[in-house]
Amino acid sequence: MRKVLIDTDPGIDDAAAIAILLNEPSLNVELISCVAGNVGIEHTTNNALRLLNFLQKNIPVAKGAATPLLRENRFATNAHGASGMGSFDFPEAKTALLTEENAVLKQWQILQATEEPVTIIALGPLTNVALLLQTFPEIRSKVQEIILMGGSTARGNIGVYGEFNVMIDPEAAKIVFRSGVPITMVGLDIGRKARLLAENLDALETHPVGKMVADLFRSYDGGDISEGVKMYDPSAALYLLNPELFQTQPAFVDVEISSPLTLGATVVDFDGVFEQADNATICVDVDVEAFRQKYLERVLAIREEVANGTRSSK
Ligand code: RIB
Ligand code: CA
Repeated sequence: MRKVLIDTDPGIDDAAAIAILLNEPSLNVELISCVAGNVGIEHTTNNALRLLNFLQKNIPVAKGAATPLLRENRFATNAHGASGMGSFDFPEAKTALLTEENAVLKQWQILQATEEPVTIIALGPLTNVALLLQTFPEIRSKVQEIILMGGSTARGNIGVYGEFNVMIDPEAAKIVFRSGVPITMVGLDIGRKARLLAENLDALETHPVGKMVADLFRSYDGGDISEGVKMYDPSAALYLLNPELFQTQPAFVDVEISSPLTLGATVVDFDGVFEQADNATICVDVDVEAFRQKYLERVLAIREEVANGTRSSK
């Protein structure tokens, strides 16, 4: 069993990623920690608790950072809706799953207690992860890998070169890339390419969890699915689950935190221009059709009773 901590800002595409992560029997997801990002910390935490009720999974949820390290929140309600989860009618929050400890402390406690290495998959701004690594540097050796949805080897999505998760908290991202912990960056390049098509969403409709994903995606990012649905967080999840679908390349990555023109840019140096040791594995390509089929396969494999007592029309 691979021990995993999920750090997330649910978030429509976060939900689509978490659904398949929680259904993988070879993963032991020990914690879902929430961070402000797509929406505020109260919403992201509540969304995680509602999602877990819907999926009928009893995994601890910890509330994390309410703001970036140094900057103001900048929510993505235009893409995720006011609640952060579109208009899908999730059941009430399973508040019994909420930990007393803040996310960073809970992450540290889990890492302290385990002898086995732990993978962190980060689907939101890296504020919690940066605080963890800076506050408790001794646990860096317990982190096998950080797989993060973030950054871009090319252009951004909220800045010219800034990807949302990195640009919202560029200082946190800089700390994480400099931490010495093995990192795999699953950036916009992948999520933009591995889009779900309308026919893929149709194929999900007959399954209660698939219907949740399809409904969320039909309201995501303005609801225009004519060019497909960008699969940002699900691409990080599928990298963890099926890395064989991806092509990777080592690189040195650093994050711009000063220039107003390029704030939040992940500067990906494949060629040793900065004469720095590689500090990340970069996903540079994906087998799109295999990605689509594997994502659908994983959602449709979720036991239908899981979705909080709802059953498909079948
Ligand atoms: O840039 C895309 C990322 O920002 C995704 O993780 C999305 O959920 C938002 O957090
Ligand atoms: Ca996210």
